[in-house]
Amino acid sequence: MNAHITGRGMVVPVIEGKRIVLRTLEKSDARSIQENLNDKEVSRYTRIIPYPYTLRHARDFIKIAQHFGSREEDYAFGIEIKETRKIIGVISLARIDYQNRNAEVGYWLGKKYWGRGIAKEALLGILNFGFDNLKLFRIYASVMHPNTASVKLLEKAGFEFEGRMRKSVLKDGKWLDELRYSILEEEYRRLVQPV
Ligand SMILES: CC(C)(COP(=O)(O)OP(=O)(O)OC[C@H]1O[C@@H](n2cnc3c(N)ncnc32)[C@H](O)[C@@H]1OP(=O)(O)O)[C@@H](O)C(=O)NCCC(=O)NCCS
Repeated sequence: MNAHITGRGMVVPVIEGKRIVLRTLEKSDARSIQENLNDKEVSRYTRIIPYPYTLRHARDFIKIAQHFGSREEDYAFGIEIKETRKIIGVISLARIDYQNRNAEVGYWLGKKYWGRGIAKEALLGILNFGFDNLKLFRIYASVMHPNTASVKLLEKAGFEFEGRMRKSVLKDGKWLDELRYSILEEEYRRLVQPV
């Protein structure tokens, strides 16, 4: 599969991991996204993913993702598993602030793929894209408390805890705290090329 070229000429690479490929989403991915995301446990600690999650939601999301990608505002990569070539999750860089070279990472994976190191592979892939291609300086994540799996993933990928935003999200009628984590470019470089 070839790299995708945006309206402004940026080359969005296909990012290859051991078991996965991160690539731009296509119309034909709607069914796989819907099947994996129509699960309360997956969307439980996410900000805007509705439940139930319909095929219409997936189609609309793909259109938005393609539009953002082409304008270089946000990037949403599908996480394709090499074994079946199906999309099993999404990982994104959003709120890209080119002036301060900051962006927010977000991700989800279908439940049956949890606990196999796949999210970590995807996260390292998108960090590489953010720091190498977009020349970012800091990438951060906001995790609703108590999303233990996401906290563990970030810690294992080298993110540092920055602070707790108290009751900053209203989720299913409850106020939840958000935990902010980040990784700086220099920390990422040390991590991938340990001295
Ligand atoms: C968060 C999420 C993507 C993690 O996916 P995953 O593929 O299971 O994560 P990985 O297998 O790559 O785990 C990475 C590390 O975190 C650890 N980890 C993951 N889930 C864990 C859990 N529930 N408890 C303890 N440790 C956990 C793993 O042991 C692994 O550590 P290692 O590198 O030492 O082996 C997945 O749980 C998910 O999609 N959740 C729903 C969506 C969501 O909440 N997104 C985040 C919004 S901020």
